This record gives sequence, C-alpha cells and structure tokens, in this order.
Amino acid sequence: MSRKGDEFFITTMGPDNKEHTYKAKYLIGSVWKQRYVTEFKNGSLHILPVQWNVKTQEWVDYHGLKKYKPGSGKYWSDKQRTYQFKCTGCHNTGSEFQYDAATDTFTGTKWSDKGVACEACHGPGSNHIIAEGDDLSKTIVNPAKIYDPNRAAMVCGQCHTRGSSVKKLFGVQKTGYPLDYKPGGQLNFVYDPKPGLLPDDEFSRQHHQQYLDWKKSGHEATGVMCWDCHYTHRQGASNKYQTKLPGSLLCKNCHVDIEKAGVHGIHSTNNCIGCHMPTTAKSATPGDIHSHSFQVLDPAKTVELGAKEPNSCNLCHYHKDDKPADMAKILDEIRKKGRTIKR
Ligand code: HEC
Ligand code: HEC
Ligand code: HEC
Ligand code: HEC
Ligand code: HEC
Ligand code: HEC
Ligand code: HEC
Repeated sequence: MSRKGDEFFITTMGPDNKEHTYKAKYLIGSVWKQRYVTEFKNGSLHILPVQWNVKTQEWVDYHGLKKYKPGSGKYWSDKQRTYQFKCTGCHNTGSEFQYDAATDTFTGTKWSDKGVACEACHGPGSNHIIAEGDDLSKTIVNPAKIYDPNRAAMVCGQCHTRGSSVKKLFGVQKTGYPLDYKPGGQLNFVYDPKPGLLPDDEFSRQHHQQYLDWKKSGHEATGVMCWDCHYTHRQGASNKYQTKLPGSLLCKNCHVDIEKAGVHGIHSTNNCIGCHMPTTAKSATPGDIHSHSFQVLDPAKTVELGAKEPNSCNLCHYHKDDKPADMAKILDEIRKKGRTIKR
C-alpha cells in the first residue's frame, strides 16, 4: 500500500496476473470494517483485496490471492465482482449505471446520495418537495404508516437481507440488492433471500440479515418494529448501534413483568441481550453481529452440532469448567428445579 499526498494506492495482482497499482477511489464503512473501491478503464468499479477491521485494527485479505485466482469468478478483479452489480444498491441511494455486454463497458455510474439517505427509506421525494397542503403527506412514504408490519419492515429489509435480485440486470447478471423495489412495495416479488446460517439452519452466521431474523420472531407477529428499538435519524455515535435505550433497559421498557425465577433467576445482572440476541454472526470478526430472532441459542445445540454452533451461555461463560455440555446440564436443572435470585 502507498500514499501520494491525499491519494491512496494498492499494488496487487490484476486480471492479467500481473502487478499494477490501483487508486482507492471510494471508501465504504466505518463501524466494523472498511473496504476500498477502484475504477477500471472500462468504467467497472471493483473492491480492492485488502480490508481494514476496525475493532482489531488489522488488515485482512478480501477476495484476494490468499483464497482465489484471477479468472475464478471470485477474485476481486473478476467480472462477477463489480461494485455496480454487487454493492451499490445498498450502500448508496439512487444508484444508476448502464452496462454494454458486447463491449463490457460501464457508463453513467452515479448516485443521488452517498450511503443511506432519505429517499432510501421514504421513496422518491421530488413531488413531495413541490407539494402543498394535503398533498404533502400523500407524496412521501412514512414507513411507520405502512399498514402491514411485515411490509413496513421491508423498508429496512431491502438492505438488511442477504440475497440476490429475481431478475438479471441488462439481462446479464443478478444483483446483490433488490431491483425495482420502492418503500411501500413488496420486497419478496423482486428479491430472493439467501441467508448464511449456522449449522442449525436457523440462527444467522453472516451479517446484514437482521430483517430475516426478525421475521422469525414474536416481535414480527406483534408488530414490534425495527424503529421501536432503533433511532432512524440520529447521526454520529449517540449510542451503540443507535438503540433508543442502552442494553437491557430497551427490553425492560416493554417486558416489565419478566419473572425473577427459572432461567430469569440465574443472574443478578439479567442481561436480556446477552441471552436473547447472542452475537452469532460476522461482519469483520466472528461474533460482532447480534442475532435478531430474539431466541436463546441453547447450549444443547452446540453439544448436538459441534463447535461451529455457538450458544448464548458460552458466549459469556468460556472458562474450562463451562463446556457446552456443562452449561446444557445447568440450564436443564434450572428449568426443572427453578432458581431464584433476590434482586
Ligand atoms: C442487500 C444489501 C447489501 C449489499 C448488496 C451489500 N451490503 Fe454491505 N452492508 C449492508 C448492511 C445492511 C450493512 C450493515 C449491517 C450489517 O453488517 O449487518 C453492511 C455492511 C457493510 C460494511 C461494513 C460497514 C461498516 O460501517 O463497518 C462494508 C465495508 C460493506 N457492507 C461492504 C459491502 C461491499 C463491498 C458489498 C459488495 C460486494 C456490499 N457491502 C454489499 C448491506 C449490503
Ligand atoms: C434508514 C431509514 C430512514 C432514513 C435514511 C430516513 N428516514 Fe425518516 N423515517 C424513517 C422511519 C422508519 C420513520 C418512522 C418511524 C420513526 O420516526 O422512526 C421516519 C419518519 C420520518 C419523519 C416523520 C414523519 C411523521 O409523520 O412524523 C420525517 C419528517 C422524516 N422521517 C424525514 C426524513 C428525512 C428528511 C430524511 C433524510 C435527511 C430521512 N427521514 C431519512 C426512516 C428513515
Ligand atoms: C439503502 C440500504 C439501507 C436501508 C434502506 C436501511 N439500512 Fe440500515 N444500514 C445500511 C448500511 C449499508 C449500514 C452500514 C453502515 C453504513 O455503511 O452506512 C447500515 C447500518 C445500520 C445500523 C447500524 C448502526 C450504524 O449507525 O451503523 C442500524 C441499527 C440500521 N442500519 C438500522 C436500519 C433500520 C431500522 C432501517 C429501516 C428503517 C434501515 N437500517 C434501513 C443499509 C440500509
Ligand atoms: C416495543 C415493545 C418491545 C420491546 C422494546 C421489546 N419487546 Fe419483546 N416482545 C414485545 C411483544 C409485544 C411481544 C409479544 C408478546 C409476548 O410474547 O410478550 C414480545 C415477545 C418477546 C419474546 C417472546 C417471543 C418469541 O419469539 O418467542 C422474547 C423472547 C422477547 N420479546 C425478547 C425481547 C428482548 C430480548 C428485547 C430487548 C432487546 C425485547 N423483547 C424488546 C414487545 C417488546
Ligand atoms: C440466562 C439467559 C437469559 C437471560 C439473561 C434472559 N432470558 Fe429470557 N429466556 C431465556 C430462555 C432460555 C427462555 C425460554 C424459556 C425456557 O427455555 O425455559 C426465555 C424466555 C423469555 C421470554 C418468553 C417467555 C416468557 O417468559 O415470557 C421472554 C419475553 C423473555 N425471555 C424476555 C427476557 C427479558 C426481557 C430479559 C431481560 C430482563 C431476559 N429474557 C433475560 C433466557 C434468558
Ligand atoms: C427488540 C428490539 C430490536 C428490534 C425490534 C430490532 N433491533 Fe436491531 N438491535 C437491537 C439491539 C439491542 C442491538 C445491539 C445493540 C448493542 O450492541 O448495544 C441491535 C443491533 C442492530 C444492528 C447492528 C448489527 C448487529 O446486528 O449487531 C443492526 C444493523 C440492526 N440492529 C438492525 C435492525 C433491523 C434492520 C431491524 C428490523 C428488521 C432491527 N434491528 C430490529 C435491538 C433491536
Ligand atoms: C451476558 C453474559 C452472560 C450470559 C449470556 C450468560 N451468563 Fe451466566 N453469568 C454471567 C455472569 C457475569 C455471572 C456471575 C454474576 C451474576 O450472577 O450475574 C454468571 C453466573 C451464572 C451462574 C451462577 C454461577 C454460580 O456459581 O452460581 C450460572 C448457573 C449461569 N451463569 C448460567 C448461565 C446459563 C445456563 C446461561 C445461558 C442460558 C448463561 N449463564 C448466560 C454472565 C452471563
């Protein structure tokens, strides 16, 4: 890696198996990791093969030579890995580009806003700007007023779901993001979810799947929405992941009558999130993303499915006497005999 003034470069193996120096034109990410985007002569944007992990402060390989060869379809410079087809729909608002398959050329790549902006969640706003009176509210989507909770949550689900478009764009490739989705619309008509799951086939192993998790939960059934727990308009580091209250206070605000007995009588601290939103998924490093199905991942599952299956208890209890089998036994006993802590 090198630097000239305010410009940053990465020298690495390109599509022709030879070394070239590529300029980092754009940067994505700040919370978990950063990736760097370069532009090829044909207008295609590619994600350079080096990733910065924020928490561990280290550089790691990303679709580079450690794992893939140029031409394998998975190497960073391969045709199948362009930012236009794979990323821009979720990481920018109002993305546009043209692609000519005959000449393999991209033209007119642009977006109306960098990152997630108003129109990503509220739909197109041009008519709203010029509207007056009653027309003001008719010309814009308020996600909180979409009647069906599941359809409302699709506003977030358009990006917080892993999958691919149903249609091929320009008849060439499916995109990593939904095509032709607008807030208020029906996501499942245009987007096929393909979540990365743990061996149990239920809990999330990969990131940006919060909507799919939530759909499995009692919160979906009763209409407890993403924005009941998260601020949608705060900027900067107001608190971790923009939750409306910190830690368990968020849960206790609604769940006022959790008994201090049985499984809920084990801990003096009773950290709801620790047990009900275990950090099973990975963005930059394993376990940096929370499960959103609000189910407890039982240590008996780890015993049954092996070490690739984490569980809620062992994510905190990792001493040598706390093997999954020991935790499963304790949990089983507590369920049978009960346990109450004075708080
Ligand atoms: C379907 C939507 C979607 C697509 C497609 C997508 N992402 Fe993301 N990405 C997200 C969401 C949502 C998050 C944040 C939530 C999470 O990670 O669970 C995220 C997180 C990230 C982050 C970390 C952000 C941070 O602040 O740390 C980076 C970097 C990133 N994506 C890069 C990419 C690249 C590169 C591509 C294309 C190869 C891509 N993403 C494709 C939705 C998407
Ligand atoms: C990540 C999605 C998202 C983005 C981006 C977003 N909003 Fe919102 N907005 C929502 C949701 C969800 C609601 C309703 C629930 C709430 O208030 O949190 C809302 C509510 C509102 C409301 C209140 C409507 C009412 O009837 O009270 C206004 C006004 C608004 N947004 C304007 C904006 C503007 C302007 C921007 C850009 C600067 C923006 N929003 C960006 C999701 C978003
Ligand atoms: C256009 C795609 C898109 C939409 C729509 C979207 N998100 Fe995100 N969201 C992202 C990406 C990408 C990130 C990663 C941060 C970044 O790079 O901006 C993110 C990050 C987050 C975070 C982590 C906090 C942070 O500041 O990074 C939360 C919480 C979140 N989104 C909730 C929501 C909710 C709730 C909605 C619906 C009201 C929503 N998002 C709609 C793409 C989207
Ligand atoms: C806005 C109110 C609200 C908030 C905040 C809230 N819940 Fe809930 N929760 C509900 C409602 C309503 C139900 C469905 C009725 C019930 O089972 O009590 C529910 C159900 C549940 C269930 C049982 C449903 C199932 O899928 O089996 C669990 C577990 C749960 N919530 C955990 C949590 C946790 C953990 C938090 C904090 C991260 C939380 N809740 C925050 C309102 C809320
Ligand atoms: C030690 C782990 C643990 C902690 C901490 C924990 N739970 Fe639970 N919770 C469980 C388990 C396990 C179940 C399922 C019942 C069972 O297996 O016996 C459950 C069930 C639930 C249910 C559905 C059934 C019911 O009792 O109504 C709700 C709602 C719930 N928990 C909310 C919470 C809230 C809110 C907190 C924080 C105050 C919390 N839990 C803290 C392990 C935990
Ligand atoms: C019942 C409350 C609740 C609901 C509903 C909820 N979240 Fe969260 N979310 C949380 C909590 C708690 C965290 C972890 C905060 C922390 O670490 O302090 C979190 C973390 C996140 C993060 C950061 C990455 C991660 O998963 O750890 C994203 C992104 C996110 N939520 C998106 C969403 C989206 C999108 C929805 C709706 C589909 C949603 N959330 C619904 C409580 C909720
Ligand atoms: C968020 C972290 C966290 C999670 C998740 C967690 N624990 Fe704990 N556990 C603790 C801490 C800290 C203590 C000691 C302080 C206390 O009692 O709160 C403890 C204490 C205990 C004790 C009491 C030990 C003794 O000597 O009496 C038992 C039993 C226990 N945990 C079982 C479990 C089981 C079973 C689970 C999974 C369902 C679990 N824990 C999940 C952090 C956690």
